[in-house]
Amino acid sequence: MAHSFPLPRTCPFAPPPEYERMREEAPLVRASLPGGDVWLVTRHAEAQRVLAGTGISTNPATPGHPTAAFRTEAPSPEEEQALEHFRTGHFIDLDPPDHTRFRRLLIPEFTVRRIKELRPDIQKLVDGLIDDMVAQGSEAELVEAFGLALPSLVICRLLGVPYADHEFFQARTREMLSTDDDSHAAAFAIRDYLDGLVTAAEQAPKDDLLGRLITGGRLTHDELVGVMFLLLVAGHETTANMIPLAVLTLLRHPDQLAALRADPAGWPMAVEELLRFHSIVDWAAFDRVAVEDQEIGGQLVRKGEGIFVLGASANRDERVFERPDAFDIERGARHHVAFGYGVHQCLGQNLARAELEIALRTLFERLPGLRVTVADADLTAKYDGAIFGLTSMPVAW
Ligand code: HEM
Repeated sequence: MAHSFPLPRTCPFAPPPEYERMREEAPLVRASLPGGDVWLVTRHAEAQRVLAGTGISTNPATPGHPTAAFRTEAPSPEEEQALEHFRTGHFIDLDPPDHTRFRRLLIPEFTVRRIKELRPDIQKLVDGLIDDMVAQGSEAELVEAFGLALPSLVICRLLGVPYADHEFFQARTREMLSTDDDSHAAAFAIRDYLDGLVTAAEQAPKDDLLGRLITGGRLTHDELVGVMFLLLVAGHETTANMIPLAVLTLLRHPDQLAALRADPAGWPMAVEELLRFHSIVDWAAFDRVAVEDQEIGGQLVRKGEGIFVLGASANRDERVFERPDAFDIERGARHHVAFGYGVHQCLGQNLARAELEIALRTLFERLPGLRVTVADADLTAKYDGAIFGLTSMPVAW
């Protein structure tokens, strides 16, 4: 039987309830979408097998790619033109060897060592945001004041956006990531802005990420703009959504929070468990297509068949995680697939880990009485969004 897809979450702390039944049924199950059927990968081992990339493509131009399966009609020429504009340098959508060319250039910018050097800056940005919240009283809306604000400032720092442009950049990014009608206009405004930023840097490259990419001389102007755009999008809403969800989860598990307060050395493992537990990306980034016939988890998958990996299901697979629905910072959750796996595994994962760790540790240190001021039932969430998150979370301290 083909399942309907996508399935909604009904609770902010759990994937869609049907995932457990689907995982039980088989490692790969069939789902119906308007443009045709696709495979859903439900278990951890098969998720890693598909994401590892052999015989699999992530490129939306590959015949059978499942992004087309959501459509009932072909894109208009205007839509095609707009998409084309954003394709250059968007290496998350490329397969090796095209993908490798970009990835190789960027890996040195996101190593554990490079991110360690950024930590004092991240700490300053976190402290500044908490100073602002405290200066305004003893209440705040955490999604806006902290969750969205931090990754935005970190990205500005990483991309070399001058301080004077922060407000413009943050406002447009927020519009672009919203579901409002002006989100397309905001995306074009940001791309134009980044185009100008790259042009200026080409004239006088500094010793920063963009400057090093320019002096490396391997990317065209348009590719550089596309890479900057991808870093902005990939590193923003993901981290932004994780912060309030993590705060909420830790407040609901006061013993584990107390343990972290007593021994901050536990934060890195707590962050891994938070990433596993929430699996906010789930399937949206894990769209793939088979480029040859192959067997996956005992199932024949034919060339041209579309696949979605259900990351949130793989991260609750009882074959790999004991008591998968329990939140447990002691479990050692490092092998989760919240950052993906294989060739496209999150480039910014070390940065995301540093942001989450510093943000959460500092929030709970500096605001010891931090609490959510509305009942769980009144917290609104983006249940149907590609990346799961809360739309607002009023807090007091
Ligand atoms: C890729 C999750 C933060 C940059 C990915 C993928 C996932 C992911 C699941 C794999 C997509 C795929 O397999 O197709 C997350 C989560 C984050 C986060 C959960 C935060 C909690 C960041 C940050 C940056 C970043 C802070 C950088 C500023 C990227 C890039 C890719 C990527 C560039 C594409 C890598 C490639 O295709 O080679 N991320 N991400 N991410 N992420 Fe992240």
